[in-house]
Amino acid sequence: MPEYHPPLAGRNALRLDFNENTHAPSPRVREALSRLTLESFTIYPERAPVEQVVAAHLGLAPKQVLLTNAVDEAIHLVTFTFLEEGDETLFAVPSFFMYDVNAMAMGAKVIRIQADETLEFPYEKFIAAITPKTKLIILASPNNPTGTVLTREQIHSIAHAAPQAVVMVDEAYFHFFGETVMDDLRADALADAPKNLIVARTFSKAYGLANLRAGLLAGPAELIAHIRKASSPYNVNGVALMAGEAAIGDTEYIDWYVDQIRTGRARIEKALDHMKVPRWTSHANFVLMHIGPKHKELVAAMRARGVLLRDRSSDPGLEGCVRITVGVEDQIDTGIAALRDSLAAIGWTPAEVNAPENPEDEPKEVREYE
Ligand SMILES: Cc1ncc(COP(=O)(O)O)c(C=O)c1O
Repeated sequence: MPEYHPPLAGRNALRLDFNENTHAPSPRVREALSRLTLESFTIYPERAPVEQVVAAHLGLAPKQVLLTNAVDEAIHLVTFTFLEEGDETLFAVPSFFMYDVNAMAMGAKVIRIQADETLEFPYEKFIAAITPKTKLIILASPNNPTGTVLTREQIHSIAHAAPQAVVMVDEAYFHFFGETVMDDLRADALADAPKNLIVARTFSKAYGLANLRAGLLAGPAELIAHIRKASSPYNVNGVALMAGEAAIGDTEYIDWYVDQIRTGRARIEKALDHMKVPRWTSHANFVLMHIGPKHKELVAAMRARGVLLRDRSSDPGLEGCVRITVGVEDQIDTGIAALRDSLAAIGWTPAEVNAPENPEDEPKEVREYE
């Protein structure tokens, strides 16, 4: 199976490449961490009390929530719990590579449904691909790296069409979109809400805690109980637990950060339109643009100007595409100015967007997971 090795080296620059929070977490996080004593490092972490706080925040019962070592571990636990050899798992591509990595590790048959050039979720093809062997479906909404979403109706129809499967909705970018299916998990959910939904959330994006690794799975108590058995009781460290608890309590900070991102996203989209760079409408904290054969040159020109972007050209169907993460106001000013300079410096014109790739850049037979 392939390895996922994201380009993490040399990131001491404006980080518009990994869809992290580009600012800082809530000041309450620092305050909480200042209460850490040296002795506290000697104690095994206890996640249950924080699960109670998180469950109350989400309007769920504590049994419905499992804290995880970010969504990466959530994906690992869900595939480990629900997939075995001979099972089929289904997700749309392009999407987050860790779905592939984990599903392949379980020996499941991975069915990837390719989006067309609109990059909208390929709903009809997806529904048609469900079989009695489908045991796990992963739906990212908003999706990375496209920024596209599914409607609640689409998620419900998919879940109802595969009652034998677990349907995990990856809501890593939920805050920047604002719509969720978390309420389908509550005791007062409508009677026709599917019973096979699990929702994943992270503390890495809006909450700004990517370095500490914290996330969660929420779902029907029975499904979460199965996953809890597969998980280490110490999967989330105590520093992350303290920081996560402080972060979810500060709704004022999240409202501010989300407002920064939504405003910044609109500014970036407008600037790209002005520069005639084709792009897709995003519901997350990033925007995907279509540069064409000069994608690598653009990323290098931006790096030379101190701004990091992420080349997504090796993703299925995204040849020539580059992603920019949305930061806070002054970072958007810097990012847009650097983009304008870089496009001019590499002599980019809209006409070349659909020109063929340089033969040296032909996709390699073994896909690289970057
Ligand atoms: C769709 C999606 N899910 C999950 C993750 C992983 O996030 P975490 O930091 O919680 O592991 C990412 C990270 O980029 C993502 O884009």
